[in-house]
Amino acid sequence: MNEEIPVITIDGPGGAGKGTASFLLAKKNGWHLLDSGAIYRIFALAALKQGVDLEDTIALRTLGASIQVEFRLAENGVETWLNGERVDQQLRTEQTGMAASKVAAIPVVRMALFELQRGFRRPPGLVADGRDMGTVVFPEAPCKIYLTASVEERARRRFLQLSQQGQDVTMASLVREIRERDERDMNRSVAPLKPAPEALILDTTGLSIEQVLQKIAEFARSKGLNVSD
Ligand code: C5P
Repeated sequence: MNEEIPVITIDGPGGAGKGTASFLLAKKNGWHLLDSGAIYRIFALAALKQGVDLEDTIALRTLGASIQVEFRLAENGVETWLNGERVDQQLRTEQTGMAASKVAAIPVVRMALFELQRGFRRPPGLVADGRDMGTVVFPEAPCKIYLTASVEERARRRFLQLSQQGQDVTMASLVREIRERDERDMNRSVAPLKPAPEALILDTTGLSIEQVLQKIAEFARSKGLNVSD
């Protein structure tokens, strides 16, 4: 693995703005993007579809090794491709997010998806979005960011995003689901959600996306990376 290729890791809870910030940063700089949450979502969907028993470690390993994922940066967002099929719509429901958070707590699943994620580090650079990008998958990354925001703000953003996609959701159920998902992500035994000690911690409540990008790019430049916001 080429340690010369720059990586910016952007970790944090769901709805903190990681997805938008990572997409825009990668697109602006012509870098690759790893949406690791999408990888766990894809894995959960594939396990559900193929009826894989979540206690069967051999089947989980085989499934992890057989997945081919690609993120294409289109004009207005990321297209996610699984084994040559576009799967964005199926991935974005709260139901899939919840299933992803469950399979992501299983150590063998995290192990099976580790190399797949490391493989996204290709020239000229990578923006890696997730929960453990800076702590576990790319601990050597020169620039680590941890984005967060209040639960209410994150629920409000998710509500806007999901209603725009025509999904029927309520604020109350989103707040409940976000709390439940945070609880599981922060307290699991492997790769719990937490900032890397050297990460820039940025609370995005009340900040515009431009302000968030500016702060990330400034921090990256202070770490010697040549990026624009
Ligand atoms: O970010 P997103 O909501 O798409 O992630 C779905 C779930 O996948 C998260 O709730 C989390 O449990 C899991 N995940 C993870 N490690 C990552 C990215 C996501 O455990 N690096």
